[in-house]
Amino acid sequence: MQPVFNLRNMKILVTGGAGFIGSHTVVELQQAGYDVVAIDNFENSSPQVVDNIKKISGKPFDFIKVDIREKHALNDVFVTHPDIKAVIHFAAYKAVGESVEKPLAYYENNVGGTLNLVEAMQAHGVQNLVFSSSCTVYGDVKADALPITENSPIVKANSPYGNTKKIGEELLFDVAKSSTTKIVALRYFNPIGAHDSALIGELPNGVPNNLIPFVTQTAIGMREKLTIFGNDYPTRDGSCIRDYIHVVDLAKAHVKAIEFLNTHTDQYAVFNIGTGNGNTVLEVVAAFEKVSGKKLNYAFGPRREGDVVQIFASCDKAANILGWKAERTLDNALETAWKWELHLQALKGANQ
Ligand code: NAD
Ligand code: WQD
Repeated sequence: MQPVFNLRNMKILVTGGAGFIGSHTVVELQQAGYDVVAIDNFENSSPQVVDNIKKISGKPFDFIKVDIREKHALNDVFVTHPDIKAVIHFAAYKAVGESVEKPLAYYENNVGGTLNLVEAMQAHGVQNLVFSSSCTVYGDVKADALPITENSPIVKANSPYGNTKKIGEELLFDVAKSSTTKIVALRYFNPIGAHDSALIGELPNGVPNNLIPFVTQTAIGMREKLTIFGNDYPTRDGSCIRDYIHVVDLAKAHVKAIEFLNTHTDQYAVFNIGTGNGNTVLEVVAAFEKVSGKKLNYAFGPRREGDVVQIFASCDKAANILGWKAERTLDNALETAWKWELHLQALKGANQ
């Protein structure tokens, strides 16, 4: 759908812009013609990511090292850039297991940071916000409730991290209903893969919690073997099912969300962002072996606490209202993840 007026050259603030999803979104925003100012404190990323974004897009953008927990520094971003028209908010901690050990750090960063951001936006008349939410808000889902829609019940979170996403949605709903701030919450399923250039991708800190980085690190020899957490689930091959979405497709959904905010009057809208397909862990491993040509060393282990059996998205709402749908395949996502891992290894070799 063509925007009703020229949205291009609008300035968008991206918090967590040096992160996995944020960096890919900055690239897509620039390629869609938007001006970008990105902020990040580099707690889970690096300044090199900022340089690589510029290499990919060939366009400059403003980057400021800022911690969203520091109110004054965050406020100064809006003073320096009074032409910010919308914000995409990625900056947060996201490790489920770590959140169980450090709940206060997660509430301070993820909830406190969001509060600081909304206060700064309202102080400077910025009315449009896209919020990074997660399918984790749905909890464990019965097979007959799949594919899951946005109307599915939000359940008690099974981790402090998941609760920060649930609280984030709830507080932003209240903000939207009590002010002129307009909110789009995007519930991501499982983002995987990397940019085709292999210049940006997922940078897990230490031992990866997530499946795909563990798979690629095992294939490249960094890890001895992949442990598949459970093969006795009530699924077609006994391993859990997830909706794995290419991070570039996810990034493009944010461009559509910005256009929605500029062309609609809805105060608050939620969209599932996935592929609509579910794959088991074993299917992912088989697909990875096919696209990489590598035989993956794996063994079955016990179920992981907190894992849901299966979940995958209904994305009809995003298709019908945002005009967005995932275009890339699981194979392509795994190819780009593998190319990214090879790039990281080459960098390590060059730096030794
Ligand atoms: P990421 O850790 O790669 O990116 C987050 C970025 O925010 C990092 O660069 C980090 O340095 C920065 N950051 C963290 N705290 C900050 C602070 N206080 N001030 C400034 N910068 C800060 O994670 P990601 O995978 O890109 O996730 C981005 C968002 O998407 C998060 O809100 C996450 O909860 C959400 N999300 C991620 C997934 C996933 O599987 N990756 C799934 C659903 C939702
Ligand atoms: C996927 C599947 C594991 C690692 C998490 C967060 C969620 C969101 C996305 C932030 C599961 C299996 C994994 C391994 C395995 N993050 N697995 N061996 O758990 O669906 O979602 O990341 O918002 O909030 O919960 O993703 O990649 O950790 O696991 O067998 O070494 O792979 O059991 O079935 P998950 P994941």
